[in-house]
Amino acid sequence: MLYDLVRKTRSFRRFQQEEVIDMEILKSFVDLARLGGSARNVQPLKYMLVNAPVFNAQIFPHLFWAGYLKDWPGPEEGERPSAYIICLLDTSLSNEAECDLGIATQNILLGAAEKGLGGCRIASFSPELKDVLAVEGHLRILMVLALGRAVEKVFLDKRKPEGDIKYWRDADQIHHVPKRSLEEIIAGEIAA
Ligand SMILES: Cc1cc2nc3c(=O)[nH]c(=O)nc-3n(C[C@H](O)[C@H](O)[C@H](O)COP(=O)(O)O)c2cc1C
Repeated sequence: MLYDLVRKTRSFRRFQQEEVIDMEILKSFVDLARLGGSARNVQPLKYMLVNAPVFNAQIFPHLFWAGYLKDWPGPEEGERPSAYIICLLDTSLSNEAECDLGIATQNILLGAAEKGLGGCRIASFSPELKDVLAVEGHLRILMVLALGRAVEKVFLDKRKPEGDIKYWRDADQIHHVPKRSLEEIIAGEIAA
């Protein structure tokens, strides 16, 4: 069921670091991204795929995790992502692709969820990451998708009307994500 898959497609930030995600699997995720919609059908997104532990270790320090969890510096050694898909904008084709990026990354994360894997979009990263990855001049990093087999539980909570939208962790390290209710986000109904 699509609803169940979408519910399962959460942001996961703790992984089974040792489990290598096959390059062919990463390519199959990018193939899902490729099939997504693109403004004016320009398709300006390019992708760099990484599953080598040595490179994973070089990428990791440049990523900023879970800003609302002030006491959590990010996944510890052993629970770090085992693969990355770096989403790049080809500036020779377009100057922006934020909508394309949302579609593409959701397709990738849905594909990961279908395979029992998980991931997290990381839009906060240090500018030095492009040097680490030797990104060519016409390409700009828009987002990093951290991927792996998740080892954490994520619960969706119904946000209470007066409640906070900040995600939080309970004493068992279960990650809770308050979602606004359907009623709250339907701004109007013009029924037949
Ligand atoms: C555009 C975008 C940028 C994000 N950037 C980061 C980030 O830099 N670091 C991070 O830990 N999570 C990041 N996230 C994940 C969000 O925190 C997450 O989507 C949100 O908490 C809701 O959880 P859910 O994805 O499980 O619904 C980003 C998500 C989106 C959509």
